[in-house]
Amino acid sequence: MSVVGVDFGTQNTVIAVARNRGVDVITNEVSNRATPSLVGFGPKSRYLGETAKTQEISNLKNTVSSLKRLVGRTLNDPDIQIEKTFVSAPLVDIKGQVGAEVSYLGNKEQFTATQLVSMFLSRVKATASAELKLPVSDIVISVPPWFTDVQRRSILDAAEVAGLKLLRLINDTTATALGYGITKLDLPTAEEKPRRVAFVDIGHSNYACSVVEFRKGELNVKSTSYDRHFGGRDFDKALVDHFAKEFKEKYKIDINTNPKALVRVATAAEKMKKILSANAQAPLSIESLMNDVDVSSMMKRDELEALIQPLLDRATVPLEQALAEAKLKPEDIDSIEMVGGCTRVPALKERISKFFGKQLSFTLNQDEAVARGCAFSCAILSPVFRVRDFSVHDIVNYPIEFSWEQSPDIPDEDTSLTVFNKGNIMPSTKILTFYRKQPFDLEANYAKPEMLPGKTIPWIGRFSVKGVKADSQEDFMICKLKARLNLHGVLNVESGYYVEDVEIEEPIPEEKEAEKKDAKENKDGEKKDGDVSTNPCISNLFPLTCVLEEPATSAPHRLKGLFKDAYADAKRSFLGNRPLTNASKQAMDTTEDKANGIAEPKPKTRKIKKQVRKGDLPLSAGTASLDQASKDAAAEKESQMFMEDKLVADTEDKKNELESYIYELRGKIDDQYSEYANEEEKTKLKEKLEQSEEWLYDEGDDATRGVYVAKMDEIRFVAGPIVGRYQDKIEEDRQAALKAEEEKLAKKRAEQEAKKKAEEEAKKAKEEKEGKKAAPDASAAAAPADAEMKDAGEEVKADGVDEPMEDASGKK
Ligand SMILES: Nc1ncnc2c1ncn2[C@@H]1O[C@H](COP(=O)(O)OP(=O)(O)OP(=O)(O)O)[C@@H](O)[C@H]1O
Ligand SMILES: [Mg+2]
Repeated sequence: MSVVGVDFGTQNTVIAVARNRGVDVITNEVSNRATPSLVGFGPKSRYLGETAKTQEISNLKNTVSSLKRLVGRTLNDPDIQIEKTFVSAPLVDIKGQVGAEVSYLGNKEQFTATQLVSMFLSRVKATASAELKLPVSDIVISVPPWFTDVQRRSILDAAEVAGLKLLRLINDTTATALGYGITKLDLPTAEEKPRRVAFVDIGHSNYACSVVEFRKGELNVKSTSYDRHFGGRDFDKALVDHFAKEFKEKYKIDINTNPKALVRVATAAEKMKKILSANAQAPLSIESLMNDVDVSSMMKRDELEALIQPLLDRATVPLEQALAEAKLKPEDIDSIEMVGGCTRVPALKERISKFFGKQLSFTLNQDEAVARGCAFSCAILSPVFRVRDFSVHDIVNYPIEFSWEQSPDIPDEDTSLTVFNKGNIMPSTKILTFYRKQPFDLEANYAKPEMLPGKTIPWIGRFSVKGVKADSQEDFMICKLKARLNLHGVLNVESGYYVEDVEIEEPIPEEKEAEKKDAKENKDGEKKDGDVSTNPCISNLFPLTCVLEEPATSAPHRLKGLFKDAYADAKRSFLGNRPLTNASKQAMDTTEDKANGIAEPKPKTRKIKKQVRKGDLPLSAGTASLDQASKDAAAEKESQMFMEDKLVADTEDKKNELESYIYELRGKIDDQYSEYANEEEKTKLKEKLEQSEEWLYDEGDDATRGVYVAKMDEIRFVAGPIVGRYQDKIEEDRQAALKAEEEKLAKKRAEQEAKKKAEEEAKKAKEEKEGKKAAPDASAAAAPADAEMKDAGEEVKADGVDEPMEDASGKK
């Protein structure tokens, strides 16, 4: 199984994978570490990523960019009107969602932004899969922190349509923070002052800043602020506008009337901007820009800075907001980590550094930090990968309120309640309690529409609670609904159930213990919880109202009343799994006393009312997510298009193969193959090659895969015998060479053996000669070797025993 993290950028998408050795950024089919976030359409197939970029200039009307900025939006949104200036394909309305109209397979077709994103994600999936040599499913994708529920749901749908299992949609800056924190071994402990880091990400279209506190094993996002329309493309736009004016005066051409010229100037302007980040001045020159006019110009860095002055003036606004929301001052920030391509602009660096009064830190890879963080997040969530535990607590950016119709039985009931406030921890679950006698509906909306991007509709979802009825005494049913802002930042009412008050007897905890415990619980609650204590409903009369509570682990301490005991119970069981506190240690001491025989007083008890879960309440939800049938249809369409693309790619491969085969044979027939074909065969093959080539550049230019394969077979039929003879000869030569080599080796071996034998014989003869001289007794010299050995052995043994004795006496 795979572990993949994706930084889905406006301009570039970076893919990182977690492998045993760690996290790596992978390269795509043309060995680039970033893939253009583009989808294009052609007469035969789609162009995804790199191919879309290659075709862009000649296929502007059918190339869609800004994919992530289109999802979850409506055509009339003012933000989409801005996008229109950057997207070359025409944008259209498709059942309330923005999409693009393109020419695909010769037909006009419309695709929603969600479909376009799923097309791009299927390319991301294929790239990761090719690199990992594994099917890819589990994935974490980053989105800007300002994404709303509907935008997030669109990306979730798109991933599902592309056959991906999206484990988490993570905010860009949070992903960066995770990648930063998980690799740091020197983070402060829980008792120490946290390390406070500001992460600044300025990309192609978007600027975000998060203030994050780190302690060992966890990060807490304290604030996130952003400028949704601040990035590299705005710098490029300033340059393009400048050159449009200049070229109008200098060359009398209006690039604004020529989309191709406009894109070419934008590309040149981006290049110039990058050069100006490292140099004082940069040239620009484009041949035959339009009307056969070549253009050229020059710009100095300070001229660029003057052009982008309005942007530079806004450069510190997100930083001010982030600090204000985190209630911190610039000097409270320990380090400022810069990521995103646009943070290379010197004028921006200078302003940000001045704002914090500190040197900026570029320790993270500016282009890859987000993707790496996503891969770490995926590794944490994936069951197949073991990674150090690291808790990520993000925050809610837009407050969410629930509203409902007033119950006819409760005339003074409130009809709305803000359940998730800005700054609340995310993910988070809250339990809503309703007192009802009939089924009812509730609706979730963003509480402050003015905070949302563009003209986003604040509506999040409608939830119907079924199976509600009065109990046997005509009393209210106590309905509990679990509202969860999940890992993706998407809101759902996940489940519903009803409870009954039951009277039970429980021991009264000793006062001191109870107080201590309360104090600790409240501390925990405050740490994990947002500001639910501001809940207006709590001040209302019980039970004639909706009540909001937290799940057991993070209850607000102000929520006392009748629920208090239920909370205390739940918390007790939660704390049971925790390390011992002083209070619980004391409890253990008491147990020991008992074991030592000291009598324990009988515990005092009291009767309390406890809520006991009695059954589930069926729920139905209407949200901005696609329904299953639409998702299935989109997935089928996607896989059909994927297969078409594959077939086109395979056909193209076969065509290229045929072309190379023709060239190869033509080159070889008068060279390597020459002596293996008679004149008639040569002529026949040459004719066949010529015919095939003519066919290929004429009617065969656009044939099917099968036809190319058949053409190749026809040529093979003619060339086969010649190539066969050549290969036979090659094989014969190879065998002969092999044989010759073997014979050479055998000869060498025989020579070596003969040499060795001769040497041995010479040695023996020498020894014999010398032996005769030393021992005239020929019979002794000729004695069998084993007899000689035996004698020698006996001799050695005798000496070995005798010598030490002589030594010991010292009188040898
Ligand atoms: N050396 C440089 N100087 C100035 N700008 C640069 C430099 N290198 C890259 N950029 C700009 O950075 C931008 C791309 O940054 P990045 O890849 O972080 O964006 P993205 O993630 O695709 O977009 P976003 O985060 O806004 O969705 C482009 O506008 C590019 O021109
Ligand atoms: Mg980015």
